[in-house]
Amino acid sequence: MVTPIEQRFMDKHQGSADRHEKAKDLFPDGVTHDARRQHPFQLYYTHAIGPHKFDVDGNRIIDYWSGHGSLILGHSHPAIVDAVQNQIAKGTHLSGSTDLEIQWGQLVRELIPSAEKVRFHSSGTEADMMALRMARAYTGKTKVIKFQEHFHGWSDYVAVGSAGIGGIPKETLSTMIVLPPNDISVVENTLKENKDVAAVILEPTGAHMGLEPILPSFLHELREVT
Ligand SMILES: Cc1ncc(COP(=O)(O)O)c(C=O)c1O
Repeated sequence: MVTPIEQRFMDKHQGSADRHEKAKDLFPDGVTHDARRQHPFQLYYTHAIGPHKFDVDGNRIIDYWSGHGSLILGHSHPAIVDAVQNQIAKGTHLSGSTDLEIQWGQLVRELIPSAEKVRFHSSGTEADMMALRMARAYTGKTKVIKFQEHFHGWSDYVAVGSAGIGGIPKETLSTMIVLPPNDISVVENTLKENKDVAAVILEPTGAHMGLEPILPSFLHELREVT
């Protein structure tokens, strides 16, 4: 049964409803990213400026999602549009080094002073996979501790501990240890009992973009015990 609020949503978003019908045949669940699945259908947008997105039916929507958290300056910020337009005319993949990469690396190190060296990757998933491999290679150990529901991308290793993920070999799963966050005694005991831990990985702000926050004291304690 369609509820009054659903009916109102459908009436206001007929253009999105039509597009969803086409997309259902093309993409799994009609979406191109799992997190965009919405009931009864997701919206289709034409453009976005600052804090607003505009959909195909002409509705203006306040954007609380901000590019899955990545657009910290809002949509289409003039300085970013300028920089991208300038660079695209000069080439984007020079298969060589540039002054910009040095500036970028220095800025990353300013933001994260504990980063001794910087390596760029094309996605967070890939960066985390490489970080785990490096920790395993450096320590000669195999296991990695992660925390329940913390997200580190889609690779087989770190997907353990999240709901509804199949298709991961048990051999891979057996190299991961999933612990509850915010309890340092559990981490300490695990490290005492297990001498094969190469690394501990976590979302320092907590699972689900900080919706399940990490206590600042836990971060300090974790640094001490590792
Ligand atoms: C903490 C964290 N690690 C890893 C990732 C994976 O990044 P990507 O989607 O670029 O693979 C994300 C993405 O949201 C993230 O929030």
